[in-house]
Amino acid sequence: MSVARLSYPHFGVFEHPRDEDYLTVMERSVLIMGDAHAVLDAMPAKSVQTVITSPPYWSLRDYGIDGQIGLEASVYDFIDALADLFDSVQRVLKDDGTLWLNIGDSYTSGGRTWRAPDKKNAARAMDQRPATPEGLKPKDLIGVPWRLAFALQERGWFLRSDIIWNKPNCQPESVRDRPTRSHEYVFLLSRSERYLYNVDAVRGPNDRRVRTVWDVKTQPVPEASGHFATFPTALVDPCVLMGSNVGDVVLDPFMGSGTTALSAGLLGRRFAGIELNPDYLEMTRQRLLKHGFVQDRVADEHVAISA
Ligand SMILES: C[S@@+](CC[C@H](N)C(=O)[O-])C[C@H]1O[C@@H](n2cnc3c(N)ncnc32)[C@H](O)[C@@H]1O
Repeated sequence: MSVARLSYPHFGVFEHPRDEDYLTVMERSVLIMGDAHAVLDAMPAKSVQTVITSPPYWSLRDYGIDGQIGLEASVYDFIDALADLFDSVQRVLKDDGTLWLNIGDSYTSGGRTWRAPDKKNAARAMDQRPATPEGLKPKDLIGVPWRLAFALQERGWFLRSDIIWNKPNCQPESVRDRPTRSHEYVFLLSRSERYLYNVDAVRGPNDRRVRTVWDVKTQPVPEASGHFATFPTALVDPCVLMGSNVGDVVLDPFMGSGTTALSAGLLGRRFAGIELNPDYLEMTRQRLLKHGFVQDRVADEHVAISA
């Protein structure tokens, strides 16, 4: 395997492990195509102030690319894979850095082994449902968010808050034996006991300090047709504002359609976005260009990295 050693303005030296990968430099920031683990291990240590990310859910979507996280046969392997990944995130975070982690939950299959196919979307609903994980029963809520939160706590992260993302416009569900699910979790974790948290950067209703339940409508992203697990910017903006200062680097190792990059850039932060799927990376690039971001290197092409 060859290693490309790149130095780019305002970010530092970057040892990139795969010569066929690409990176785009814009607005003193980077978009990097590649596997999050490999790219993180190549990034300079302690270069990032805050990480805002939403990893793939377990066994829900096939993003159509080798190396993707989320297709592990066992939920326990999925949690281990993510915990390993966040070990690498710890290395690139500054000592006073934070992680804002949104992760969805799911149910065991209740005996069904199939899902309805979805041919229209690149991010396809998976057509197979995995077997009920060991120790759980059919129809159990798996509790993926808390299982992951506890795994990260065990690996040294400080688990500082669970935030309920309440979706007033959630999707209806056809189930008739439990409430319709209308929330997800965002966890705030830190690397150290003391960390950067701009407590007054965002105010809640009635000018009160931000509380732990956030009402944020899901919003379709027109540029992200085919990628339908997008963050609303209204969910990401408070994380950017409270977790970083102007000029700091905000990282999303699972960039998808680039909401974290967009929000960070519009709020005057630099961003580093990693994405395995080249189509999604291109989606992000177009989305940023449309919002007036300027590509620094090579007008309309990604910059190919050669060893
Ligand atoms: C839930 S989506 C992120 C959505 C994003 N928050 C947005 O607003 O668009 C997860 C993304 O992780 C990407 N992904 C999966 N495995 C990956 C890996 N090993 N390295 C980098 N990206 C990966 C998928 O292609 C997908 O785009």
